[in-house]
Amino acid sequence: MDDAARAAAAPSGRAEPDAVLRLVGVSRVYGSGEKAVTALAGVDLDVRAGELVAIMGASGSGKSTLLSIAGGLQQPTAGEVIVEGRALSSLDARETARLRRRSLGFVFQDFNLIPTLTALENVTLPLELDGDPAREARRLAEVALESVGLEEKHGAYPDDLSGGQQQRVAIARAVVGGRRLILADEPTGALDSVTGEAVMKMLRTRVDEGAAGLLVTHEARHAAWADRIVFLRDGRIIDESRRDDADSLLGPRR
Ligand SMILES: Nc1ncnc2c1ncn2[C@@H]1O[C@H](COP(=O)(O)OP(=O)(O)OP(=O)(O)O)[C@@H](O)[C@H]1O
Ligand SMILES: [Mg+2]
Repeated sequence: MDDAARAAAAPSGRAEPDAVLRLVGVSRVYGSGEKAVTALAGVDLDVRAGELVAIMGASGSGKSTLLSIAGGLQQPTAGEVIVEGRALSSLDARETARLRRRSLGFVFQDFNLIPTLTALENVTLPLELDGDPAREARRLAEVALESVGLEEKHGAYPDDLSGGQQQRVAIARAVVGGRRLILADEPTGALDSVTGEAVMKMLRTRVDEGAAGLLVTHEARHAAWADRIVFLRDGRIIDESRRDDADSLLGPRR
């Protein structure tokens, strides 16, 4: 951990006590030499419990890189990622995997459901991997599927579900068991506008219940569900707006 990260992680006046996710001076360079690409250049970002932050920016501006670093799927070249007060660089592989299963929910653009498992089994899987007893895992998964309106589809396989239904299963899987940090990379990208709105509403509800959410989106009307919009360009945060500004810029949500 460098000095900036240590200072930020310490309980100082500057630190937000309830930041579920904190990025401190995060940079990411792909490749080396002449071919080096700087995907992120010194990003500082806090996301608190109950807060949904949208990330917008042109293709290649570093949005997916930021999300995967926030989730510990790849390491930053410099800087520090702190999830629920724990610096990811201080965790070994097993601890990182555990934190990812316990605290983090990912929603990818392409759903990533396991085709040979039913909707219910897909949602149950992360809990069972984490050692929850099968009955409890099943109960929590049922609650999560109900929260996305899919209680009728427990036994359906992904191939038998529409794109929107698959995405809702993916969201149930991301929030099951009360995960505290939800990272969603264009979760509405493949959906029609009505289903996209429904997916946003679910994310918003989960965040209002106490999770922290980080959402990549290209769509202003989806970003309008966020409390804050962060704009990335060439790997840097160039602008930020709060919902009050966003309402006047983008129109109110709902
Ligand atoms: N694995 C990789 N190896 C080399 N360069 C990469 C890799 N992943 C991303 N990049 C580069 O890093 C930059 C940021 O990529 P990133 O995927 O984060 O952008 P993005 O904002 O998510 O774009 P999009 O909106 O198209 O999804 C781009 O220039 C990209 O080409
Ligand atoms: Mg991307």
